[in-house]
Amino acid sequence: MTYDIHEIRSHFPSLQSGAIFFDGPGGTQVSQQVIDAVSDYYKTANANTHGAFATAQRTDAILAEARSAFADLLNAPSPNEIIFGPNMTTLTFNLSRALGRWLNPGDEIIVTHLDHDANIAPWLALEERGAVVQRVDIHPDDCTLDMADFEKRLSTKTRVVAVGGASNAVGTMNDLKTIISLAHMADALVFVDAVHLAPHAPIDAQNLDCDLLACSVYKFYGPHLGVLYGKSDLLDRLQAYKVRPAENQPPHKFETGTQNHEGIAGALAAVNYLASVGEKYGAPYAAQYKQFSGRRLALKTALAAIKEHERNLFVSLMVGLRAIPGITIYGITDHTRFDYRTPTVAFTLNGQTPRAVAEYLGRNNIYVWDGNYYALALMERLGLEERGGAVRVGLAHYNTAEEVERLLQVLMEYAARET
Ligand SMILES: Cc1ncc(COP(=O)(O)O)c(C=O)c1O
Repeated sequence: MTYDIHEIRSHFPSLQSGAIFFDGPGGTQVSQQVIDAVSDYYKTANANTHGAFATAQRTDAILAEARSAFADLLNAPSPNEIIFGPNMTTLTFNLSRALGRWLNPGDEIIVTHLDHDANIAPWLALEERGAVVQRVDIHPDDCTLDMADFEKRLSTKTRVVAVGGASNAVGTMNDLKTIISLAHMADALVFVDAVHLAPHAPIDAQNLDCDLLACSVYKFYGPHLGVLYGKSDLLDRLQAYKVRPAENQPPHKFETGTQNHEGIAGALAAVNYLASVGEKYGAPYAAQYKQFSGRRLALKTALAAIKEHERNLFVSLMVGLRAIPGITIYGITDHTRFDYRTPTVAFTLNGQTPRAVAEYLGRNNIYVWDGNYYALALMERLGLEERGGAVRVGLAHYNTAEEVERLLQVLMEYAARET
């Protein structure tokens, strides 16, 4: 079956409002399955874990099934390598604190100017323990990582490399395979912030060979919840900050306090929703993923189908944006290099603040973000921080060609009126 955008959209009640949602990198809409799963959890399973009664047991079963769903999504070897938490930022702060116990003064951590601050600030916090944080620069002309600078900073002193899968501001996808293998050659651990990558491309933690990877379910059609994957031997060895009666084994030792069970039930439904997209539209991509079966295959092919749909829209979006008078686009604009970016684009319009542009679009029922979206280091590096950042348009799997056209038409009117 070819990708049927009307069928896809029919699962998302909020899309019926008439608003055009291009705010996906800040958070996506949720499907009816997710809404039902959260509500059913409250109706039929609402309890704490490990009790001797039915609702507690249902909660245990939902958590176990959700762990396996996320292991499938990320191709983790075991569900026990999946840790839930309130969001990626909190999980990363907890993780950096735990890893900090292994660091000695002078040990180095590499972060990048392309990253969201949630993958910078938790590592800067370790400066208190004497860690030295190295910051990899970017090529400002296309907002790609300066790999020569990365190699220069990587050394026998490097203990951790913290890198993003993709930039939530300008969409650049990093060459994770190369970064991870170089880091491992230097005996450093690699933490991947996959928050912006996860909605747009299949992720294979085993193939990447990253040590740790985090994502946020609300960026791919689920509830506000964070997920952390870690290699099991590493999670075993890491000491967690935990209360004494809580289990000492991973993943539980990292899940501080009572989890957001209803959110986890919704997160399971979000993964299953994605798998259903793969079952319907993934067949053309199955040959690339012969090693997978069942839900793992469905999820890989879903993301492949989504990637193609978003790519097609993004090509038209970029062509249209480039024709707007007075626009400056940040990041990769050449369509022959779109394999190295997600369908998220940041731009400014001459003489207009990003907030004014976003407000105008908002009045026209088109929802986009403006500002720095916490990609502070990048906005500073691009000299945009002082000027209100940039406007960000992010495509999601439920956006349509008509929505892209409408955005371009409104932007064109705005640019013509204001110049
Ligand atoms: C790339 C990236 N990393 C990290 C985060 C932080 O995620 P969370 O809101 O789950 O803490 C975001 C949120 O926008 C993001 O886009």
